Amino acid sequence: MKNLVIAIDGPAGAGKSTAARLAAKKLNYTYIDTGAMYRAVAWKTLQNKEKVTDALIIEVVKDIKVSLHYEQGNTLVFVDGKEVSGEIRTPEVTGIVSQVAKLRPVREKMVALQRKMAAAGAVVMDGRDIASHVLPDADVKIFLTASIEERAQRRWKEMKNKGYAVALDGLQAEMAARDKADSEREISPLVQCKDAILLDTTGMDIDEVVTAILNMCR
Ligand code: CDP
Repeated sequence: MKNLVIAIDGPAGAGKSTAARLAAKKLNYTYIDTGAMYRAVAWKTLQNKEKVTDALIIEVVKDIKVSLHYEQGNTLVFVDGKEVSGEIRTPEVTGIVSQVAKLRPVREKMVALQRKMAAAGAVVMDGRDIASHVLPDADVKIFLTASIEERAQRRWKEMKNKGYAVALDGLQAEMAARDKADSEREISPLVQCKDAILLDTTGMDIDEVVTAILNMCR
């Protein structure tokens, strides 16, 4: 198989990151988690301990250095040289990430980085605007989704395993609000592209999802 560029988009908690990471591992490709990059900007914004405003976020993104290091199937996320892979997944970061991701200066800087990382091919990139905007010439475009109930259940289990006691209904409401914000924003909203294949993973386990993705690439 030639060195493909694979774009995976979809709403929160659809299992994109897990599926994309495992598919990349099987193909011996690089996995690029673009959500982690927006989370990295959100994390740095919160370090200021100030009220989060658009002006503050824009100030933060001016000189931030975000990098992803993909090693043995795992992605490490660095902000200004500090490893923050775990810290970018807290409920506090999740709570402001859509506000961060809707701002043009943030998107312009992150998209330029993402395109640079994908330039050599043999990549699986996941996010919200990969097929529509970041990599419109991708060889394979997949829109990964699942019912909101199942997405919330999956994320709830994940958070519980990490030691966060979150309420399932609150989590589901937060995800629905984030999907709405991501779908309705002005710049590069979350959309299913016409040429993307829909993969509804409701009721599927992770191995079935990865197999389905690999079949689409063949
Ligand atoms: O893991 P989860 O589905 O919760 O989200 P994520 O992939 O880590 O992305 C976090 C947030 O970053 C999303 O809710 C979007 O607001 C934003 N994002 C984006 O705007 N564009 C992307 N390509 C990826 C993420």
